[in-house]
Amino acid sequence: MGSWEVAFDSGQLWPTPVANDAAKRASAAQMAKRLNEGDVVGVGSGSTSRLTIQALAERAGAEGIGWTAVPTSLEVELTCAGLGIPTGSLSALRPDWSFDGADEVDPAGNLIKGRGGALLREKLVMASSPERYVVVDPTKLVDRLGTRFAVPVELIPESLRMVSDALARRGCTDVVLRHGGGKDGPLITERGNYLLDARIADIGEQTESELKAIPGVVESGLFIGFSPTVIVAG
Ligand code: A5P
Repeated sequence: MGSWEVAFDSGQLWPTPVANDAAKRASAAQMAKRLNEGDVVGVGSGSTSRLTIQALAERAGAEGIGWTAVPTSLEVELTCAGLGIPTGSLSALRPDWSFDGADEVDPAGNLIKGRGGALLREKLVMASSPERYVVVDPTKLVDRLGTRFAVPVELIPESLRMVSDALARRGCTDVVLRHGGGKDGPLITERGNYLLDARIADIGEQTESELKAIPGVVESGLFIGFSPTVIVAG
């Protein structure tokens, strides 16, 4: 087997073990029941989404269901390629429905996302989908966003100092430039940007738009008002 084939083995694309693996698999199996013939599905990133894609692929294979995935990251594109799932982009396709994981989910279905750095395409896909699902294990449920996770903020590299200062002025704490694995220096997102992780104690309905209004900010990991159906098993 050549290195090209190894790279497309989705089983090798995730560091093991996956946290809360059994609960994530149970949620993934529940999500797979939604698949219908001909569906265009926006597929999220992260370990829960990867397990969900596998569950969808297994059901599709067993029952002969044809479907197309719209990936939210390179990680997911490779997972789909490894499983033989046809993919397309938002340039050509509109999802019938989509699913994704999350880092935090509040009682209203608002989310923090972006631990895996894929928040930009994740938000584009969720915003493009008329029917949205978030697949999580119970540890992701919080009473209030910001309880456990910092909010990722993707920004144009040249704006790093300006955005850091603006976040501090807004009252964000522990603002940290995310560093990459496998390279020295900052993490570079799939669109060539930096990520800052910022603790925000007072996340409200306006916080997402406040962050987006800072010049240089491309997107944030706050997903407010999408009202997804939350699938939580275990
Ligand atoms: C990817 O950027 C993230 O938004 C993930 O969807 C989120 O971090 C959930 O990841 P897990 O399913 O691995 O917990």
